[in-house]
Amino acid sequence: MNDITIKHEQQLSNEVKAFSHPEMSESEFLEAMDKNFMSLQHFIMYYKCAIMEIETKFKVLNEQFSLKGESNPIEFIQSRIKSFGSLYKKIEAKGIPHTLEAIEENISDIAGVRVVCSFIQDIYHLADCFLAQDDIRLIAKKDYIREPKPNGYRSLHLIVEVPIFLEHEKRPIKVEVQLRTIAMDFWASLEHKLRYKKDLSAAQLRFLSGEMKVCADQSAAWDKRMQNIRNIIR
Ligand code: GTP
Ligand code: MG
Repeated sequence: MNDITIKHEQQLSNEVKAFSHPEMSESEFLEAMDKNFMSLQHFIMYYKCAIMEIETKFKVLNEQFSLKGESNPIEFIQSRIKSFGSLYKKIEAKGIPHTLEAIEENISDIAGVRVVCSFIQDIYHLADCFLAQDDIRLIAKKDYIREPKPNGYRSLHLIVEVPIFLEHEKRPIKVEVQLRTIAMDFWASLEHKLRYKKDLSAAQLRFLSGEMKVCADQSAAWDKRMQNIRNIIR
């Protein structure tokens, strides 16, 4: 959580720069600071708290499962709050009004939690247990493990709403949960790097996309075989 906190402070100070301009009087500046800074701080706090709630739910399941089985089903959990840069790109692309209310309503991946497991069966079992909890509302489920994307991307995506309990209110907050195996995560992080390589020729890109697809298929086969081995051991 520390990383997240530090990142927010940097993002917030950038945001403050963005709404101050040289002609502003001190009182105008302070007023703008107060108005925008507080609402932005609250906005980010909601998503931070929602991430804490979701992380805890998976950690609790992990503890319980590790008492039943031989090892922990979850290898690691990674969480992030969407950077203001990619949030801006997304609201521009989708034509969403530039207000916090519209953003909260229309963007479902401001808070993201990634749960990485060794075995495919653990992903589905964890997801079922998580979705059965009575404070979790499922908004959308995309199973890119059963139906991988054409490029080979695989993961189970859940868009959920979790309530956070504040001083005087209970607030439902949207979170995107991605569940994947170590192999899927390894593939996705390499593919993500490739996406941001702007200096590749069309031929190189074609070749690398083909290579990535082969790796995706091979690692999917590997995940299946590892699952079979574990089933037999058990
Ligand atoms: P956005 O892509 O977020 O605009 O929404 P969407 O409705 O298309 O969601 P989707 O479920 O396709 O993807 C959401 C997230 O999953 C992305 O932000 C990535 O983190 C991850 N993801 C989806 N597709 C890919 C992919 O092809 N490669 C990699 N590396 N990650 C992907
Ligand atoms: Mg997408």
